[in-house]
Amino acid sequence: MTGDSDQKTTLYQWIGGMEPAGRLVEAFYANMDTLPEARDLRAIHPPDLTETKRVLTLYLAQWMGGPGDYSAERGHPRLRARHMGFSVGEAERDAWLLCMKRALDETIPDPRGRQAILGALAPLADWMRNQQPAG
Ligand code: HEM
Repeated sequence: MTGDSDQKTTLYQWIGGMEPAGRLVEAFYANMDTLPEARDLRAIHPPDLTETKRVLTLYLAQWMGGPGDYSAERGHPRLRARHMGFSVGEAERDAWLLCMKRALDETIPDPRGRQAILGALAPLADWMRNQQPAG
């Protein structure tokens, strides 16, 4: 192989690495702190989000094809299992995705990058649901 033309650019590279990932997570939790739609979602998170922010940044960096620090620290993500302790229905899923969509709009200048990330996170957030819709 002489070049990297056949290597895919990861989302992690696309957004510019760990620093933009950290800004995205800061904006995500700032939205969770302020959006009325996210009040209940915020309430089930710890008051101090320092550690939560650090862990979500590592997770998203790894999920976007960046360094594997999350798994080095915490093992296989088992993300659905890790959320079993929380009630995740459509409302929680939608609130989570709303905070993330706004955060992407605020921190990722490239609309294709934003769309690629949100488009891949949406089914992941839906898969996290452990409550059936009412009715
Ligand atoms: C694509 C969607 C989601 C992703 C990628 C995601 C990711 C994560 C990650 C990586 C963690 C840390 C897990 C660990 O300790 O290793 C976490 C924790 C958590 N997640 Fe999610 N999550 C998602 C959706 C949701 C939803 C819909 C809810 C709503 C109930 C939720 C509520 C929580 C809570 C309450 C914590 C614990 C925070 C803490 O104790 O610090 N998550 N999530």
